[in-house]
Amino acid sequence: MLMLLLLSILSGTEAVEVTISWYHAMTGSHTEMMNRFKVWTYTEGEAPLFHDGPVNDIYGIEGQFMDEMCVEGPMRSHFRADHPDDAHVYFVPFSVAKVIHFVYKPITSVEGFSRARLHRLIEDYVDVVATKYPFWNRSRGGDHFMVSCHDWAPDVIDGNPKLFVRFIRGLCNANTSEGFRPNVDVSIPEIYLPKGKLGPSFLGKSPRVRSILAFFAGRTHGDIRKILFKHWKEKDSQVQVYERLPPGKDYTKLMGMSKFCLCPSGWEVASPREVEAIYAGCVPVIISDNYSLPFSDVLNWDSFSIQIPVSRISEIKTILESVSLVRYLKMYKRVLEVKRHFVLNRPAQPYDVMHMMLHSIWLRRLNLRLIT
Ligand SMILES: *[C@@H]1O[C@H](CO)[C@@H](O)[C@H](O)[C@H]1NC(C)=O
Ligand SMILES: *[C@@H]1O[C@H](CO)[C@@H](O)[C@H](O)[C@H]1NC(C)=O
Ligand SMILES: *[C@@H]1O[C@H](CO)[C@@H](O)[C@H](O)[C@H]1NC(C)=O
Repeated sequence: MLMLLLLSILSGTEAVEVTISWYHAMTGSHTEMMNRFKVWTYTEGEAPLFHDGPVNDIYGIEGQFMDEMCVEGPMRSHFRADHPDDAHVYFVPFSVAKVIHFVYKPITSVEGFSRARLHRLIEDYVDVVATKYPFWNRSRGGDHFMVSCHDWAPDVIDGNPKLFVRFIRGLCNANTSEGFRPNVDVSIPEIYLPKGKLGPSFLGKSPRVRSILAFFAGRTHGDIRKILFKHWKEKDSQVQVYERLPPGKDYTKLMGMSKFCLCPSGWEVASPREVEAIYAGCVPVIISDNYSLPFSDVLNWDSFSIQIPVSRISEIKTILESVSLVRYLKMYKRVLEVKRHFVLNRPAQPYDVMHMMLHSIWLRRLNLRLIT
């Protein structure tokens, strides 16, 4: 049964043009997940490094997911297993962001920015749960996962790569040149969460009155933005690129008035802009190398975004102007359709971002079952 389901999912993603079959495959496996998928959250470990995470700002998805998978009482997630024997996957509730915050205070930390303490914390944790329960050894970690949006999160496994060869990492920093493994790991979107809110507002104009071809505003973080600024910063009224917005201009409104929103990588491959663009009904233009895009095992990013390699930044205007109105309108429509997959709800709702994260983990779990 699971095997058949997985095959139908795979053929769904291969037939990328056939949105219908993708949609049915995704709906089918999503329903299956809703009905069956159970997650055990290990109870070992103490806050703030475990069972707790940042719930705001750019790493907020880490704490929101952790809370969803740890909270008891009426808000308890229906994906939570009542007993570890009933679970399909095991959540290691380890917050990389909290470890960095509490353990790596640069002034007090003897080891500075060496990752040794990060490695030791997670390896000790695995040692504890692998000794106490049969689950880790049974799958060699292949049905265990963590979720983190922090830049350092990929590094957790570097201290002992052999131990973590099958461990599933849910990461915002999904850089394939830095060891992100698309078949094992899960790419999750970075979402900027202001205090007390579950995401940016939905502001966006109908496509016909969007008067700006492309828009970007943000700091010079990383090399890709340097190249972008060299070619485009405050140079073109159609490709509006700012390091600082002029007074009186509103970031979210400008996104809502643009056809395309540039999403160049910053210090790391992911940025909150993909999600901000989608919320604003603005077709994202991913400017990156080696970025494994969120949920790309089920979402066909080519149908609602444009990808421009770093080497072609100088051609942004020509590339975007050559997109026909028909194709743009199709992409715009898809942006509105996929929006719900990037929306955060508490508690989680069908097809929202939390469900998409769980669904990606569910698919990795099915893969494991096929292989073993
Ligand atoms: C799992 O394997 C480790 C390392 O071989 C071992 O120390 C541990 O006791 C095993 N756990 C169980 C529950 O058997
Ligand atoms: C990373 O991107 C560069 C530039 O596009 C490419 O040459 C390289 O092969 C990519 N590396 C991986 C691991 O995908
Ligand atoms: C991705 O990883 C490569 C290899 O470490 C690095 O050179 C590149 O800057 C990274 N990309 C981003 C946007 O951080």
